[in-house]
Amino acid sequence: MVEVLVTGGAGFIGSNFVRFALRQHPDWHVTTLDKLTYAGRRENLHDVMADPRHTFVHGDIADAAVAGPLVERANIVVHFAAETHVDRSIQAAGEFIHTDVVGTFVLLEAARRATSLRRFVQISTDEVYGSVPTGASRETDELKPRNPYSASKAAADRLAYSYWATYDVPVIVTRASNNYGPYQFPEKVIPLFATNAIDDIQVPLYGDGLNVRDWLHVDDHCRALDLLIEQGTSGEVYNVGGGNEVTNRDLTTRILEALGKPLSLIRPVADRPGHDRRYCLSTAKLAGLGWHPEVAFEDGLRSTVAWYADNPWWWRPIKEQDAAFKAYYQAQYAARTS
Ligand code: NAD
Ligand code: DAU
Repeated sequence: MVEVLVTGGAGFIGSNFVRFALRQHPDWHVTTLDKLTYAGRRENLHDVMADPRHTFVHGDIADAAVAGPLVERANIVVHFAAETHVDRSIQAAGEFIHTDVVGTFVLLEAARRATSLRRFVQISTDEVYGSVPTGASRETDELKPRNPYSASKAAADRLAYSYWATYDVPVIVTRASNNYGPYQFPEKVIPLFATNAIDDIQVPLYGDGLNVRDWLHVDDHCRALDLLIEQGTSGEVYNVGGGNEVTNRDLTTRILEALGKPLSLIRPVADRPGHDRRYCLSTAKLAGLGWHPEVAFEDGLRSTVAWYADNPWWWRPIKEQDAAFKAYYQAQYAARTS
């Protein structure tokens, strides 16, 4: 069996990747290492928890005693674990430094000692390029992160690269654009707006609503990672972009239309501080390996919104019973509308 370690596998992209990997590779044994922060949920892996080819370990990537042995015996590490929400990083950055920077360092130190490791995928983000008013970011462009989340990810991105350049750890770095799909925590714009709209609750659109994000379906992201695990070159960076540039206002309109809800649910609110205006990735390098996104945005958004409508068992407990989430969201909303 090929031993695959997935960090952050109980989160949004990680859980989709674990499911994808078990389906795609009958010869893989996947270990999920996840701290189960507010964003990590056993429910995200409900259908694979009992799979004999999947092992779940509850632990912190920054805890060398737990993470070290798992990395040392892995053939492939796919490192998703991170604090990921920009608004939270603006409020308090400490956990972002702990997990995104120190946690990555702990994994890389263990990777130096690993004897059978053939791939370490550092999951980075398009946000490391900063806001790009025109054109598309290429892998060789300067990194100009502008918020504590993206700065912590940029640190991890370059730290991982340095472990390839210095110690020959078989690192590749991937920088993906905004993902969407099932099991995304409902603090992020698509699940938040969809689940609010389902309940006829207003959706808080930041600023003028004209910020642009490039949407990538999580299944297309998983396919790109799968290809890169086999065909990527160590020491290289790969952009993974969906090619769907959409303003937030347009996105919001589409979500409301998909649910048959009125545009009057849109509530313009104060902007995010330092809000990056636009991200856009050149994906020519990945296209050169034969990858292209397969999910058309219209179809992907419709099926994603339908997934939230059909699976309230998944998000209602978070939005209605999780006191920490309710307090977080109410404080955000109050601050932006006062
Ligand atoms: P998420 O917030 O949904 O999940 C993060 C997971 O990491 C959770 O399960 C959480 O419990 C776990 N985690 C956090 N701290 C941990 C720690 N110290 N030890 C172990 N586990 C820990 O995030 P996501 O949206 O799935 O993002 C996954 C990765 O992809 C992140 O590295 C993120 O930066 C990157 N990324 C995300 C997007 C996107 O649009 N969501 C785009 C590009 C890159
Ligand atoms: O670009 C990749 C990044 O995408 C990932 O690295 C991050 O982990 C992920 O969280 C995401 O960051 P964003 O800040 O782009 O995602 P978010 O869903 O928070 O916001 C998307 C856009 O929607 C952004 O322009 C802010 C806006 N927004 C967001 C929220 C939560 C609103 O207008 N209202 C909201 O309530």
